[in-house]
Amino acid sequence: MSYIEVNYPSEKTEFYTMLREQVKLYTDGETDRMAVLSNTSSVIAQAFPRANWVGFYLVSGDELVVGPFQGKPAVSRIAYGKGVCGTAWKENKSQVVEEVSCFPGHIACDCSSRSEIVIPLRGSDGTMWGVLDMDSVEYAYFDEEDRVGLEETVKLLERISR
Ligand code: SME
Repeated sequence: MSYIEVNYPSEKTEFYTMLREQVKLYTDGETDRMAVLSNTSSVIAQAFPRANWVGFYLVSGDELVVGPFQGKPAVSRIAYGKGVCGTAWKENKSQVVEEVSCFPGHIACDCSSRSEIVIPLRGSDGTMWGVLDMDSVEYAYFDEEDRVGLEETVKLLERISR
C-alpha cells in the first residue's frame, strides 16, 4: 500500500476522526506488534508537524523500553514512576505537560522539546502494556481535546497488546 499525503482538518473532532481512519489502515488485518507500532508512530508524526518526537515505550518487567518512534534518538529505558512516561505508568493515567521544564523528574531527550503528552496503552483487560509519548517544540502544544482524541486513537492498538 503506498502512502497518500493527507490534509488534516484543523477542527479537532474531525482531525481525530481522520487520524483514526489513517491509523486503521495499518492496524486492520496486521497482527505484528512492531509493524503496527512502527506505522502508527509514522502516521501520528505526519499528522502533528509541530511534534518533534512521536513513539512508544513498552512495559518490560519493571521498566519501559523504547519501541518504534519518529524523532531523535531517545533514552532506551525508563524506570517505573520516573519521568513523564514512568509517571503515566505508575498513575495509570494520561499526562498532559504544558512546559516540560516544570515537570519534576522530566527526562530530557531532545532539548528543543517544550511540551509533552503521554497516553497509556491498555489491553482489553485494562492492563497497561506501554505508552504513546509525544513531544513538541511549542509550549502547551497538547490540550485536553488531544488527550481524549489520542486515548481514542490508541484503543485501535488494543488488539496487539499481547
Ligand atoms: N520525556 C520523557 C522521556 C522520553 S523522551 O521524551 C522521548 C519522560 O520524561 O518520560
